[in-house]
Amino acid sequence: TKTITGFKPDFLWGGATAANQVEGAYDLDGKGLSTADMVPYIPKEKRGLNVKMDVTSQYIEDVLAGKIDDRFPKRDGIDFYHRYKEDIALFAELGFKVFRLSINWARIFPNGNDAEPNEAGLQFYENVFKELKKYDIEPLVTLSHYETPLELTRKFNGWYSREVIDFYVRYAETVFTRYKDYVKYWLTFNEINVITHSPYTGGGVLIDRLPEKTSDQIAYQAAHHQFVASALVTKLAHEIIPGAQVGCMLARMQTYPVTNHPDDVLKAQRMNDLNLFFTDVHAKGEYPSFMNRYFAENGIEVIKERGDDEILKQYPVDFISFSYYMSISVTTHGEFEATAGNLVEGAVKNQYLESSDWGWQIDPKGLRVALQDFQTRYGKPLFVVENGLGAYDTVEEDGSIHDPYRIDYLRQHIEQMKEAVKDGVDLMGYTAWGPIDLVSMSTSEMSKRYGFIYVDQDDDGNGTLNRSKKDSFAWYQQVIETNGEEL
Ligand code: BG6
Repeated sequence: TKTITGFKPDFLWGGATAANQVEGAYDLDGKGLSTADMVPYIPKEKRGLNVKMDVTSQYIEDVLAGKIDDRFPKRDGIDFYHRYKEDIALFAELGFKVFRLSINWARIFPNGNDAEPNEAGLQFYENVFKELKKYDIEPLVTLSHYETPLELTRKFNGWYSREVIDFYVRYAETVFTRYKDYVKYWLTFNEINVITHSPYTGGGVLIDRLPEKTSDQIAYQAAHHQFVASALVTKLAHEIIPGAQVGCMLARMQTYPVTNHPDDVLKAQRMNDLNLFFTDVHAKGEYPSFMNRYFAENGIEVIKERGDDEILKQYPVDFISFSYYMSISVTTHGEFEATAGNLVEGAVKNQYLESSDWGWQIDPKGLRVALQDFQTRYGKPLFVVENGLGAYDTVEEDGSIHDPYRIDYLRQHIEQMKEAVKDGVDLMGYTAWGPIDLVSMSTSEMSKRYGFIYVDQDDDGNGTLNRSKKDSFAWYQQVIETNGEEL
């Protein structure tokens, strides 16, 4: 027997972004609007513990009619659309083996279901992939990262409608065919489980259009459509692209019981199961039985078409990817202080953990637990495609940026990843979230920064957009260079 001592030699180190948080150019070269273009900036004073990102039908129509003067920072991003060459050169300098990005569906099909794709959009991503190839950086592409074309929301209520499956398959077929020589690694839906926390974000679904239904009833139906779509495009990718590997993507909500009271343990287990339900379907190709009771008790009826179960069963994903930022603690007892739970209601403070400035509880060992659980449950290769610390940075007078807090966070998480690998977890790679500062998903702030590369832009959208290196830049460079030996 062989003892595993560290990361594989071809471990995929890199960073991850999403089109709507970096590109900008929201209406250039034929791009249509996406759901992300309608999400306003939420200043600190106006948000609670868990930010609500859902907007209403009326809000969207009012924005389109020019009646609202909110700011929409995701429309501008950090201008990656025009600066991708400079940014990719910096990623190459960091030593990236992989760069995770998403294709903005509305750049390819402006309305989501157009007769022909938009050539300018296709050309843009081809240019990006060519640039990555120059440096031997492997792209890892998310097909859908909170970017449903807005017209699919307005006409079909997004993923609640079954018709959207066909439009997505058409979109995937178009990009698989066009980029088959450039892209081998694909993810079907970013953080697919987020649809139950925010149907608009995860699926472009406006729940106010279905007042007779609960949010859960709507979300699980939409999720079913995404599962079927994901299986169908997994099949397609294998047919079109030689050596393609397709993964699912879960926002892992690692949940602990606060006390050893069996009710707390059961509650935490239930929450973990509800979270892992999504990877269960993607990886095992079937709905786990515990969901039947959950659906029955919550009046949820998922309408499936004949053949859906076979599709799920026949085309499971090749690997499992996930985001991990924090752990969550829950209890059945009332006396514990509430904290932010990354969209999870009812999370309470864990007395052993520190929190970020946004209340996310920092828990490197939780990542090891998560990796081990995935390994045991599925036995498939794993990929950590998001992890990082959103923090305020200060630019010194000489332009330097000292971010030891970020280095600490990442170091501790990578250390735990290494422990999991030593335990035999099959880990393909690690892409730190936001290697370059970008617009926050939940708050649309610029000041919640994740990058090794600083971008000069503030929450109001002012700044030169110049890029500069933080202290963490040299640190991550060395991590990659030594394949995680020197942390
Ligand atoms: C993940 C998303 O949930 O977390 C990213 O996939 C997001 O899009 C990241 O940016 C961090 O969240 P936030 O709200 O700090 O940007």
